[in-house]
Amino acid sequence: MTAPPRIAVTGASGFCGGHVATAAAAFADVVCVGRRPGPAGRHVPWDAARQVPDLAGADIVIHCAAAVGDPAPGSRAEALMRAVNVDGTARLLEAAGGRPVVWVSSASVYDPRRERSLVREDHPVAGQLNAYGRTKAAGERLALDAGAVVLRPRAVYGPGDPHLLPRLRARVRAGRLLLPGPDVRLSLTAVENLADAALAAAGWPPGAYNIADGEAYARDATLRRVLRAHGTRVTVHHMPSGAARFAALAAETAARLRPGSEVALSRYAVDQLAHPVVLDITKARACGWAPRRTLEDFLAAVRP
Ligand SMILES: NC(=O)c1ccc[n+]([C@@H]2O[C@H](COP(=O)([O-])OP(=O)(O)OC[C@H]3O[C@@H](n4cnc5c(N)ncnc54)[C@H](OP(=O)(O)O)[C@@H]3O)[C@@H](O)[C@H]2O)c1
Repeated sequence: MTAPPRIAVTGASGFCGGHVATAAAAFADVVCVGRRPGPAGRHVPWDAARQVPDLAGADIVIHCAAAVGDPAPGSRAEALMRAVNVDGTARLLEAAGGRPVVWVSSASVYDPRRERSLVREDHPVAGQLNAYGRTKAAGERLALDAGAVVLRPRAVYGPGDPHLLPRLRARVRAGRLLLPGPDVRLSLTAVENLADAALAAAGWPPGAYNIADGEAYARDATLRRVLRAHGTRVTVHHMPSGAARFAALAAETAARLRPGSEVALSRYAVDQLAHPVVLDITKARACGWAPRRTLEDFLAAVRP
């Protein structure tokens, strides 16, 4: 009998990494490398902002750890993002020493100034609107140069999502959801689809791969349905996207003048909702991966 592969998963205490570690535990010996334990396997402590990880015995490394969010420009959180997402990546790649690495990136690296109604992996990586996008782009550059497989999901949703749903709920005021510009189509990524890809990708040719659900979704109806499934009924209203961008610029300027404060509305947040962004997943499909989950599956399983 052959020994199961040993898979080191970083970020396993978080949303995506937790799903990856749980799925990996079905067939592999899992090591969760991070500040806190993951949902499965052995824990190896690692602070990506300060240390080189111990990857001894790992056959494959799946790097999901990242400092995520939309920090105020010039804030301490912004500096920490570089320490984790860029310098931490350099430390991880050094420790991996040529072992297969799957590096979970983000569609936030894509240039938001260009048309994104069908984004292939050769879309320019430039012009990111916040430190998250910039540090993910810099980190994935290091990973690509080291021969890693880089996955670019967009807006990951699913059980335990600590980011999208809370942010969406926070935007609801008196039963109204105010969105920038007219309705658009957006790619979303079910966390199960991302986990499937992360576990398959170590065998793919090095390079970047978009990872998303099989179909893009109509923004307004989708957000309304997601909120309703979680017990909140809303009516959707539109504001001109130029006005939303202007409000975001003003909020970012105010946050810059008061270091340590949160940005009430950022240009990144507006961009995430105001433009069509559809990922072309042909390249990952050609490697044998297929998105099996849809938003419909998620909504059917939600108990408000
Ligand atoms: N969620 C999305 O919509 C989305 C979309 C596109 C791409 N992604 C990418 O998917 C990956 C996972 O994101 P997520 O949504 O799962 O975020 P998450 O739930 O916030 O998890 C982030 C993980 O990174 C770990 N981490 C942060 N700072 C660290 C440090 N200094 N040292 C070691 N580990 C550290 C966290 O560990 P602690 O528990 O110790 O904090 C946690 O396990 C990230 O690379 C993100 O860029 C996510």
